[in-house]
Amino acid sequence: MPNLLVVDSSPRFEQSVSRALTASFVDKWKATHPDGTVTHRDLPRSNIPFVDTAWIGGAFTPYEDHSTEHSAAIRISDDLIAELKNADHILIGTPMHNFSISALLKAYLDQIVRSGVTVSQSYEGMLKNKSATAIIATGGDFGPDAPYASANTASSYLRQVLGFVGITDLTIVLAGKTLAIDAGKTSLAEYVSEHDAELSNAATGRSTLLAA
Ligand SMILES: Cc1cc2nc3c(=O)[nH]c(=O)nc-3n(C[C@H](O)[C@H](O)[C@H](O)COP(=O)(O)O)c2cc1C
Repeated sequence: MPNLLVVDSSPRFEQSVSRALTASFVDKWKATHPDGTVTHRDLPRSNIPFVDTAWIGGAFTPYEDHSTEHSAAIRISDDLIAELKNADHILIGTPMHNFSISALLKAYLDQIVRSGVTVSQSYEGMLKNKSATAIIATGGDFGPDAPYASANTASSYLRQVLGFVGITDLTIVLAGKTLAIDAGKTSLAEYVSEHDAELSNAATGRSTLLAA
């Protein structure tokens, strides 16, 4: 029974383009995986802490040597990693914020990259046999021919960090020009339907020629 883990990070909820696109992906994935299960990790509602000294102590000392502070700090990381290990496909939705991913998603990724748990001591990714789709909603245009394409650090960062933990099978859906929705030039529903083919390809695992 395949499990889809959906990690949403936009703080805009109903207005969010990335959330509307992940929801459409989930519908398509369910249609092709009728026996599948979906787990939703909603980052703005998850209270994910930043890495601090207690967390670092917990991450880099054996469990048997943990202080009360280490155990408390590392618990959420253990829980998030268990959730991730249980997933066959990981769907990430993120806004572009200042040319990168959302800060909440960065905080989440900092929790799930763990030496000896998701990355081996010899820097080999330990999360095997998983695939992922990342949907990045951007106000501007960062497509391959756009003049500012190289300013998009979100795509390369996600490919790097997910590959580091072993998730190298990554499809990136770069959902650009969302400002057209805010400007009233198109509707959210219309925008989402324009991405139907890309989302179907990603949800059904077909190869795509998407810009990343
Ligand atoms: C704080 C902030 C920073 C942003 N930075 C960028 C940016 O660097 N490049 C860009 O094209 N759009 C930027 N935007 C626009 C968002 O990427 C756009 O609204 C996108 O649809 C957000 O995703 P969401 O609708 O899922 O929240 C920014 C928006 C906010 C609120």
